[in-house]
Amino acid sequence: MTNLKFPENFLWGGAVAANQIEGAWNVGGKGLSVADMATYKPNIDNKDYSAHMTITSESIAEAMADETDTFFPKRRGIDFYHHYKEDLALFTEMGFKTLRLSIAWTRIFPTGEELEPNEEGIKFYESVFKEMKRLNIEPIVTLSHYEMPLALSIKYNGWIDRRVVDDFTRFSDVCIERFGKYVKYWLTFNEIDSIFRHPFTTAGIISDKIKEEDLEQNIYQALHHQFIASAIVTKLAHEKIPDSQVGCMLTKLMTYPLTCAPIDVELTLKKNLENNFYADVQVKGEYPKMILKDITNRGITIKFEEHDAQILKENTVDFISFSYYMSMAESADTNAERTPGNTVLGVKNPYLSSTDWGWQIDPKGLKISLIELYDRYNLPLMIVENGMGAVDVFDDGAIHDEYRIAYFKEHFKQMKEAIDEGVDLIAYTSWGPIDLVSAGTSQMSKRYGFIYVDVDDEGKGTYERYKKDSFYWYQKIIETNGEELFNN
Ligand code: BG6
Repeated sequence: MTNLKFPENFLWGGAVAANQIEGAWNVGGKGLSVADMATYKPNIDNKDYSAHMTITSESIAEAMADETDTFFPKRRGIDFYHHYKEDLALFTEMGFKTLRLSIAWTRIFPTGEELEPNEEGIKFYESVFKEMKRLNIEPIVTLSHYEMPLALSIKYNGWIDRRVVDDFTRFSDVCIERFGKYVKYWLTFNEIDSIFRHPFTTAGIISDKIKEEDLEQNIYQALHHQFIASAIVTKLAHEKIPDSQVGCMLTKLMTYPLTCAPIDVELTLKKNLENNFYADVQVKGEYPKMILKDITNRGITIKFEEHDAQILKENTVDFISFSYYMSMAESADTNAERTPGNTVLGVKNPYLSSTDWGWQIDPKGLKISLIELYDRYNLPLMIVENGMGAVDVFDDGAIHDEYRIAYFKEHFKQMKEAIDEGVDLIAYTSWGPIDLVSAGTSQMSKRYGFIYVDVDDEGKGTYERYKKDSFYWYQKIIETNGEELFNN
């Protein structure tokens, strides 16, 4: 008889990022981070992430002068900083085996250049990890999830400057030393590929400080610095925590040809190769030849220091993690209709429906991604983000989010098919198991959670937590290790 369960010890759980949940932006000695500059703009089209994420020297100066959190929702998050016990208890009630979370660099090193860490910041994460240990929740920790000290961004223009590699290594080393006894699974950079889509959020790059024609060259150099830092940190973790596992983290942007016209297929192939390139470097320890050729053809040179090639080669990752929300199509037709996705604008696929934010819902694309990644890299896989942003409304004192349940159900079925066909998928963490502030638009109203948080886009609300219908559904999925998917 077919086994309807997921593999034994499958890590079911959820994923969050410090800057989208913690709040307490100026508490406990925390320094200013790039995320504290992110504004919520009430009057713009929320499908246009770039309108929210574009940062200039001027907007930074304005944000620094503003000491409130009114238009800066990431400063308040969902106040996880003060609610973490309650939130972890709710995750335990859902049956979580794991929780992916990130460490705010500025809680540990407020400006990034201190030589000694801020003990109050360390204490906060220690308390969180201790509580997780008590509750038997395995942490998966991201060291850099869309935040870095603003001071490094201003002083060095972020990751463009090689010195930031040392600062990040010092921060990571402290995390490994101090939290290594609690944390086995580490991710270095969240969606390392996103540096081209939003250079400030990902790498602290203030674009207007660079001549437009030099921007791409500088972003590639910053990316190279992140690859090097990632390899150095992988080495540190392996040396200092005996059974540690370090993974890369990719935004899986699955792209299909809109038609079978060979030109559409070629353009699509290139898009997908470009998307995989970031994992290639971290898994294979070198830049793919064709990607390098393409970069050189565009007049870009990446400066390698003496031992860079060796550092990359010797410190590859143990597993691959990725986010998957949507897919898109590609076409040679410049007039083809487009729709937003995760910080991208892709060609609309006529076979798919979309969320309220225009992201195309494609469970089969998740299975295709799993097969493609496993075949390409032959390493264990973790899906560390997946979910749908939706507007939730109370009806009779409850949130009946059957749309969310339907989304997850179809994605989980595709995961199971991929596993049954041989893919080594070891973990699944849904994005935002508790509502949090959107990375792209800084909205609270774009909700992902199984748990509702009573706070709106303007920060008004009680911050009380409520269980949505999907809470009980996911609880059942975890309890039956997936078997529930096939009931009824
Ligand atoms: C991922 C990010 O790309 O997408 C998360 O790693 C983010 O931080 C998630 O929240 C969903 O995007 P958004 O813009 O809806 O929050």
